[in-house]
Amino acid sequence: MRILAARDYDHMSRQAANIISAQVILKPDCVLGLATGSSPLGIYRQLIDWYQKGDINFSQVRTVNLDEYVGLGEDNDQSYIHFMRSNFFDHININQANTNVPCGTNPDTEAECSRYDQVIKNLGGIDLQLLGLGPNGHIGFNEPNEYFAMDTHKTPLTDATIQANRRFFEKEEDVPRYAYTMGIRNIMQAEKVLMIVSGKQKAAILKEAFLGPVTPKVPASILQIHKDFTLVADEEALSAFTHEEREKWNIE
Ligand code: F6R
Repeated sequence: MRILAARDYDHMSRQAANIISAQVILKPDCVLGLATGSSPLGIYRQLIDWYQKGDINFSQVRTVNLDEYVGLGEDNDQSYIHFMRSNFFDHININQANTNVPCGTNPDTEAECSRYDQVIKNLGGIDLQLLGLGPNGHIGFNEPNEYFAMDTHKTPLTDATIQANRRFFEKEEDVPRYAYTMGIRNIMQAEKVLMIVSGKQKAAILKEAFLGPVTPKVPASILQIHKDFTLVADEEALSAFTHEEREKWNIE
């Protein structure tokens, strides 16, 4: 586990965008695992900027997104497929046929989950998976639980997640109650995992996830044992780490 400290959200976004950009330059047809939410917006803006300046080429890149709300399709502006197109895909030269998001409108849960596992398998696995950290320690929509769910599955969203996502919807009733999400095995099998975390409100859960025990009650904690895991966190998110903990993890 490698922990990089960033001054603030913009600095975190640039550092993470550098890592993604290096991946694309070194392997132009790489498979990027992508996330939605507030955390990666700065990364997507930075990558779009570099694309516009001619510094990065996405023409051969393939992508798989972590998750999608059950019931929301591409015509719904709160769906994750819509988020990805409007915040990233529509602004770069990626072949949209090479982008994948679980299909929220497929009512056949079993079929959709095994289809998505097969999509990841057919791509040859994920080279670099980008993750945000949920307020309750979730990754993708792998919510705190008694066990780690391995493969793509449909999951009820916890109250903490519904509350956290409430800001994107007009009314609380509009927040979907279920999501399709990659499982822990899908994420852990990625060659590299990159997590970004910003803000004071994530400080306690960040410390619990990476300095506490590995447990499905804090799903992100499993990343402590990933073979190539990089965390980029800003100073506010790292504010619960003590001086000794920073020294131990070589955080400058
Ligand atoms: C998004 C996802 C979620 C978010 C997490 C953090 O695709 O899978 O796990 O990464 O909820 O969200 P933000 O970045 O909005 O704080």
